[in-house]
Amino acid sequence: KAGDKDVPIEDVLYFPDDLDATPRHPRIPMPGALFGGRLNSSGMEWGLRRDLDALARDMRAAPNAREVVPLTAKDVDAAMTRAARAAPAWRDTPVATRAAALRRAADLLEENRAALMATLAREAGKTVDDGIAELREAVDFLRFYADEAEALCTPRDLPGPTGEQNRWHARGRGVFVTVAPWNFPLAIFLGQTAAALSVGNAVVAKPAPQTPRIAAQAIALLHKAGVPEDALILAPGGVEVGQALMAHPALAGVAFTGSTATAKAINRDLANRDGAIVPLIAETGGVNAMIVDATALPEQVTRDVVASAFRSAGQRCSACRILYVQEDVADRMLEMIAGAAATLTMGDGMDPATDVGPIIDADALKRLQDHVAKHDVHWQGTAPEGLFLPPTIIELRQDETLKEEVFGPVLHVKRWKAGQIDKVLDEIASTGFGLTFGLHSRIDATIARVTARAPAGNVYVNRNQIGAIVGSQPFGGHGQSGTGPKAGGPLYLTRFVEEVVVSTDT
Ligand code: NAD
Ligand code: ALA
Repeated sequence: KAGDKDVPIEDVLYFPDDLDATPRHPRIPMPGALFGGRLNSSGMEWGLRRDLDALARDMRAAPNAREVVPLTAKDVDAAMTRAARAAPAWRDTPVATRAAALRRAADLLEENRAALMATLAREAGKTVDDGIAELREAVDFLRFYADEAEALCTPRDLPGPTGEQNRWHARGRGVFVTVAPWNFPLAIFLGQTAAALSVGNAVVAKPAPQTPRIAAQAIALLHKAGVPEDALILAPGGVEVGQALMAHPALAGVAFTGSTATAKAINRDLANRDGAIVPLIAETGGVNAMIVDATALPEQVTRDVVASAFRSAGQRCSACRILYVQEDVADRMLEMIAGAAATLTMGDGMDPATDVGPIIDADALKRLQDHVAKHDVHWQGTAPEGLFLPPTIIELRQDETLKEEVFGPVLHVKRWKAGQIDKVLDEIASTGFGLTFGLHSRIDATIARVTARAPAGNVYVNRNQIGAIVGSQPFGGHGQSGTGPKAGGPLYLTRFVEEVVVSTDT
């Protein structure tokens, strides 16, 4: 077990043996989003969807991932020191070799998908649908950052008007610590980690305390794919482990995804360190709004609101938290949304029929129940016994606004009068968050005006507002929602490197 005094960390980076079994779901290439001149793994998603029952059978047959025990403070020091020793050799490894390891890891993820999805369902309550999407995103991150790193880490000659040769290099900074949330315990955990590794950083990767098993499996796959064990170390644990990592002298950079409050705490801890200034990439929460006007197509709005607010039990940073609906159509829209939400099946993530899975833990459920109890509930579905919150619609008064992220299947609604769309946009901007934003309208001028002012990093028109695709829809927000650069975008890796220019008199 990690954390046991006498057991070295590498001994717990196991992977259940039968994950090596020949995959029963070979990759089926299908048309998908294009980037880098080739298909991304949307093809894999289509392949998986063809035979959900067989996939669910394989998931149920997959062995339970083994226990992972948090590190102690002494383990943290050992892990950082070991990573610091390994960092120069990994930085000097040709970028093509590093990229090849990430691509091999992507293949291994696809091959072992049923076992990984089983862990996602058991540990994080992910539904089969969400598991497929998460696996696809993780695979996309690995392949995307492999490509991007090869472009970024190839030295370039810059103009030499003085007759000197000026060679520009981008290279790893040293030891990056990645800190991940529980709600995307594979895709985000691996995405941050792969980004840091791809450009030549050693990584100490801290998963959320709720989801260490899927993290241990992911790390084991990266090792198996060729990333040296000393250059990539798993650091399971909670706040204490996180704080010890932030304080370690070997730290050269932090990629964090989680709540805004934690990002601010980390920012303060980093500011108070002695020595080098340590950069922080923080991707955080949102109070994400969708505006619907009277020209929107009701069936489309219904489908997209239900997906945005209730899929993944609302436990997505991108989820729709507040719907601003024009009052002329509000009653009908709300009736349709409640009617559609009432058809959702809640239950065990392993069952392909499940639409909405559980809340992550009892504390989170209690926070949500307390929030709901303080408000006027417009509609609420029903839920089975256990860690479930039924889809809930709360109608806010005109003088009420939503200022904090409510991380569950709770949709807040406010009505607005024709001609007041700018006032609605001001109210949304006043939260200081800026992650995702949705608009449903059939008027081109409204679409142009609202998207130009939308206070968010990811703006979605006449569709749902979740599920950004790596490379096509780089993801991340502004203000209280994060520092940027966007994950899965063209600038992301630039924050993980240090630049060097060598000027030589020719
Ligand atoms: P959290 O902030 O509670 O924890 C995130 C991680 O930070 C965990 O690994 C936790 O152990 C660690 N941590 C906590 N305190 C720390 C400290 N002082 N120093 C170092 N590490 C520390 O968030 P969560 O509950 O795990 O995740 C849900 C949150 O994440 C939501 O707010 C959601 O919106 C956000 N999120 C954002 C994105 C995005 O891309 N913007 C994606 C997913 C989730
Ligand atoms: N990237 C995830 C989404 O877009 C969080 O839903």
